[in-house]
Amino acid sequence: MEFYEVLEKRRTYRDLSDREVSDEILKRVISAAFKAPTNDHLRQLEFVVVRGRENIAKVVAPLAKNMAAFKELVAEVDESGDKDKMTMFADALPKQQKMLMESGLLIIPFFRQLSCPLLKPTEQSSLNYFASAWCALENMVLAATCEGLGTVFHIPVSDEAEQIKKIVNAPQGYEFLCLLTMGYPAENAFLPRQKVINTEERIHLNVW
Ligand SMILES: Cc1cc2nc3c(=O)[nH]c(=O)nc-3n(C[C@H](O)[C@H](O)[C@H](O)COP(=O)(O)O)c2cc1C
Repeated sequence: MEFYEVLEKRRTYRDLSDREVSDEILKRVISAAFKAPTNDHLRQLEFVVVRGRENIAKVVAPLAKNMAAFKELVAEVDESGDKDKMTMFADALPKQQKMLMESGLLIIPFFRQLSCPLLKPTEQSSLNYFASAWCALENMVLAATCEGLGTVFHIPVSDEAEQIKKIVNAPQGYEFLCLLTMGYPAENAFLPRQKVINTEERIHLNVW
């Protein structure tokens, strides 16, 4: 696929089929992570790959009791009454657990968080490990799109991150970005309308 076509095709798919994603494709997608820019030349990323719906259900179990917390977070960000945004949330909220299990492939991208606790940064550069990991994640999402896959991720809320780190036996000093899943889109996958942005209006020449 041509690069700009990949950019156009990348969407968040919350309805995935159970068609298996092969190990070869998975390896190519994860390899894309190591092509992203990285702080300190490090590329300290590790991936826990969970296959099979039953195994995934065990890992994402902490999400169940936190759905209320997730809804609260959503209510907090909704200050605009934006129709497209609310259509997206109405679709996304009930699917947070289900969407992670459907394709039978869950990826947990871990990164080394050395300088200080992730949630207590002392300056912007304290977040460099986190930022590098997000660069890597975007590479993966684009590579997956190029392979004909849909992707979606859930950001841990409340105590989900701590619980999940225990479940997968993550070592000290590592955090994970999100719960990422990818798979072949379901036939009737719902895609909320994307916002149309006029790029020229967002470019401020010399001064804002
Ligand atoms: C930082 C970030 C956090 C997100 N968190 C979630 C999430 O927890 N659950 C979810 O279903 N989608 C999540 N999304 C996906 C967004 O809802 C989605 O990217 C947005 O609605 C635009 O739709 P599109 O990706 O199809 O263009 C997140 C995206 C980003 C960049």
